[in-house]
Amino acid sequence: MENQNYDDAIEVAPGIFWVGFYDKDATFTCNPYLIVDGDEAVLIDCGSLAHFPIVARKVFGIVSPSQISHLVFQHMDPDLCAALPLFKDIIDRPDLKMVAHWRSSMIISYYSTDKLNFYNPEKNGGILKLASGRVLRAIPAHYLHTPGTINMYDEKNKVLFTSDIFAAFTPEWEIFADASYPEKMRLFHENYMPSSEIMNEYLNRIKALDIEMLCPQHGSVIQKELISPCINALAGFEYGKFINE
Ligand SMILES: [Fe+2]
Ligand SMILES: [Fe+2]
Repeated sequence: MENQNYDDAIEVAPGIFWVGFYDKDATFTCNPYLIVDGDEAVLIDCGSLAHFPIVARKVFGIVSPSQISHLVFQHMDPDLCAALPLFKDIIDRPDLKMVAHWRSSMIISYYSTDKLNFYNPEKNGGILKLASGRVLRAIPAHYLHTPGTINMYDEKNKVLFTSDIFAAFTPEWEIFADASYPEKMRLFHENYMPSSEIMNEYLNRIKALDIEMLCPQHGSVIQKELISPCINALAGFEYGKFINE
């Protein structure tokens, strides 16, 4: 993986691109992803204002603005939502949909001066269906770490986009996780995730899925062989320990 050019988008699975900004001086990489499905595209967790110029260059180097039909927001934080109005203006489609759980969309509406066109998967059978028939399934991940968090599961490629779950602080970042990654997730999770009960409920839910790859919003992409070690690591961390800090 040493020859990856992080100035360009990286195709991590067929038609799924990492379109983030690798800042060598940062310990926290943000990972927006672009799914290209025929003539349609979906941008997942599009990112911050700070990273917008680089993310936009990568996204629109792959697809034209009018191809993007959905912006997915797996939770409500500014590191994945703040660029919403900028992308919305460039895409300029009246039918552009913002995909989020209703608890997130209540808050995400404050990122824009416009009235946003939301699509809540939980009110639509738990799925987002693309024009091709491809299904992105919204997996509940509530309170990890915000109410209304969802993970999108791409049934076609068996890729689970996990937002802040499976994230890590990574001073020496690489696009794909290595064997040291499970322990690297500890610091972020123990600082941001609330409880073992909530985490274990989530882990049991995703263990029922057939997953080839995990794509977190921070840290590195987790390929098949590291999925079980990473799930086991999350099951063993200590959550909510700063309640009295
Ligand atoms: Fe977050
Ligand atoms: Fe985040």
